[in-house]
Amino acid sequence: MPSLNLTNLTWSPLGHGHCHHQFQLRNASLHVAAGEFVGLIGPNGSGKTSLLRCAWRFNKPESGEARLDHHNIWKQSSRWCAQRIAVVLQEFPDAFGLTVSEVVAMGRTPHKGLFDGDTVEDRNLATKAIESVGLKGFEDHAFSTLSGGEKQRVILARALAQQPQLLILDEPTNHLDPRYQLELLRLVKRLKIGTLASIHDLNLAAAFCDRLYVINHGRIVASGAPKEVLTAALLRNVFGVEALIDEHPLHGYPRITWITRS
Ligand SMILES: Nc1ncnc2c1ncn2[C@@H]1O[C@H](COP(=O)(O)OP(=O)(O)O)[C@@H](O)[C@H]1O
Ligand SMILES: [Mg+2]
Repeated sequence: MPSLNLTNLTWSPLGHGHCHHQFQLRNASLHVAAGEFVGLIGPNGSGKTSLLRCAWRFNKPESGEARLDHHNIWKQSSRWCAQRIAVVLQEFPDAFGLTVSEVVAMGRTPHKGLFDGDTVEDRNLATKAIESVGLKGFEDHAFSTLSGGEKQRVILARALAQQPQLLILDEPTNHLDPRYQLELLRLVKRLKIGTLASIHDLNLAAAFCDRLYVINHGRIVASGAPKEVLTAALLRNVFGVEALIDEHPLHGYPRITWITRS
């Protein structure tokens, strides 16, 4: 199982014709060991999505390197990356007319030749993935008719069918009710593949992540175990909120209680 190494990445939207934009990823370094579940947290607009995009060969860094093991991902083809890295994005793909089965089957594409049909193994992997996200019975439903939470689980199933060695998730729990938030994160955690996920809900990040990176204004400003990172001072400085931090009474990881009245 490979590990992901982002080293001193610099990236800005300037290359995309936005000359007046101030935002830049600056000197961002991040590591995901094999099997590790790493969370990326930070305020809106801090650069989480931009940094994740550097890890799946979408944003090409201006300097620095993104490596899967010793392979610089920009020296590999996009197919090479798609065979190894699966991505669950914030936005849903346009899947006009496609059924759940068809969307999930797309996860097999990087492993197939241009004109290859689905093999038995492809179909089995898709079926297993659909079951594992709790969508058995939805196979023939049109993707476009599903709720946000169901769509999110279909996209995760597609990622699972891809059999990736690294999973990248951009705010994967946003569309989900509490039960499916927990189920999705538990499921991902059980996979034991390297995972890099941006997570808005800091209590969920504390509960599931082995380590966290905090990004603010395009810079990594803290990293470590949730217990080391999620301090009242950090939440005040980075997120501008006041909170009490103690321990989850059953599991021991940090618990954040927002101070909501002044
Ligand atoms: N391709 C792009 N073109 C213009 N601006 C961009 C682009 N990508 C990101 N940005 C800007 O960069 C900043 C960081 O965005 P993003 O990485 O999406 O933050 P986050 O995911 O933490 O909310 C934002 O101000 C966003 O508008
Ligand atoms: Mg984002």
